Amino acid sequence: MEGPAEFLTRTEILDIFRLAGVGPDAAGKKGAAKDKDKAPAAGSSIPKEVGARVWFKNAEHNEADQDNVEKPFYQAKVLEDKGAKCSLQLWDGEACKEAKFLGVFEAETQHILEWSDMAQAGISDMIEIDELNHATILWNLHQRYFKDDIYTYVGPTLLAVNPFMALDAKYPPSVIEDYKQIMQAEENYLEVMRSLPAHTYAVAAYAHKQLIVTKTRQAIVIAGESGAGKTEAAKLAMAFLTALGSKNVDESKGPLATRILSTNPVLEAFGNSRTARNDNSSRFGKYIKLYFDKEDGLCVGAENKNYLLEKSRVIGCTPVERNYHIFFFILRGAPDATAKRLGMNDAKGARKHYSAFRYLATCNDIRTFKDKDGNEKKESMEARDLKDYAELAAAFVSLGFPQPEIDAIHDVTAAALHCGELVLDPSTFDDGKANTPVSITSTAVV
Ligand SMILES: Nc1ncnc2c1ncn2[C@@H]1O[C@H](COP(=O)(O)OP(=O)(O)OP(=O)(O)O)[C@@H](O)[C@H]1O
Ligand SMILES: [Mg+2]
Repeated sequence: MEGPAEFLTRTEILDIFRLAGVGPDAAGKKGAAKDKDKAPAAGSSIPKEVGARVWFKNAEHNEADQDNVEKPFYQAKVLEDKGAKCSLQLWDGEACKEAKFLGVFEAETQHILEWSDMAQAGISDMIEIDELNHATILWNLHQRYFKDDIYTYVGPTLLAVNPFMALDAKYPPSVIEDYKQIMQAEENYLEVMRSLPAHTYAVAAYAHKQLIVTKTRQAIVIAGESGAGKTEAAKLAMAFLTALGSKNVDESKGPLATRILSTNPVLEAFGNSRTARNDNSSRFGKYIKLYFDKEDGLCVGAENKNYLLEKSRVIGCTPVERNYHIFFFILRGAPDATAKRLGMNDAKGARKHYSAFRYLATCNDIRTFKDKDGNEKKESMEARDLKDYAELAAAFVSLGFPQPEIDAIHDVTAAALHCGELVLDPSTFDDGKANTPVSITSTAVV
């Protein structure tokens, strides 16, 4: 939203949830109307008490600039309210490199936002925060993040902050069992959900419960910028919903739950690649439909619709990125006989380096990461490609692909790579006038 309000006001957010029929006020709690009458727009000129703790917005912070290291908000103490301006001092102990904020400084009152002790505590549903503004939302998320609580609700919406590390110890797969209580609850399942730590599993459980209770279709929309964790969140939701149990319509096939989860490595191999922001970036959109038996709630099928694949990536990418994972998986991971058949070996029989292929030559295969001591390290993605190829091969089997089809998929993928080696003679291209194709001047790959 535009303007000094920075964000929706608490009243506006409550109104949205009320209209959606969810959130504390939807249950008929008193106070919403009162709140509406009284709530001032965030950042408006509420008199600031001398000594009050507030947030002030650093006007030099630019959200759109990723290299901007300026903090967006500072904690400060009000020394004097002068109407349009306030004299402030950074709150005790607040570290600040910018000399301009040291000592007493003046800030425009419209850049001063209310402080919240509730956000200080890091509460799990931000709809409860007494002073809801951009700063308190960020601070609440910050407080939780440092306790590895990456999930926080805003009413029915779950915010997930990328942990940039595996949180297996905190959220082992066994916690799925805890969230099954939501479906088992005869009534008040929303309260059961709220009594459990915020998690993607809870959202999936709630959607499933609503499906069974209301007999209406449910949708979980996962949104965020590249690298935010959408794919990981989608996989967690699928893992939960399939762990509730599934039944095979066709008994000759492997367990349905396993097959549904096996679609992920296949889709990621062919549709994900490394970008400047994410080593496993989905270069396509997907719409996953899961079907459940309306009587017993067990999963009975799945459908996956993919759209908007970034096809241009196949013929090249920027120097900080990589082509689709599948080319590297096959080149590095395919068994020797397959690699030989696909022209992945050089004249001496050794596996070719990816730079031997024009479509891969510009790819950047070295990832930079920080080790546990915070030291910057670099490594090739080869070990990961080998592991992921093995997972892909297992997924093909679990999905029931017959061997000739698996071979054909390898053939077509390798053929796409070899197409990059063709050299065309543009002088022979007649734009389809005489219906003659352009001549190929290289013969090595044909
Ligand atoms: N909940 C999580 N637990 C552990 N790691 C995570 C989680 N969410 C994200 N990550 C880490 O962040 C990386 C990027 O996440 P992910 O691929 O899901 O992003 P995305 O939103 O799908 O991005 P894109 O739009 O580029 O596809 C993951 O490979 C993983 O390393
Ligand atoms: Mg993704």
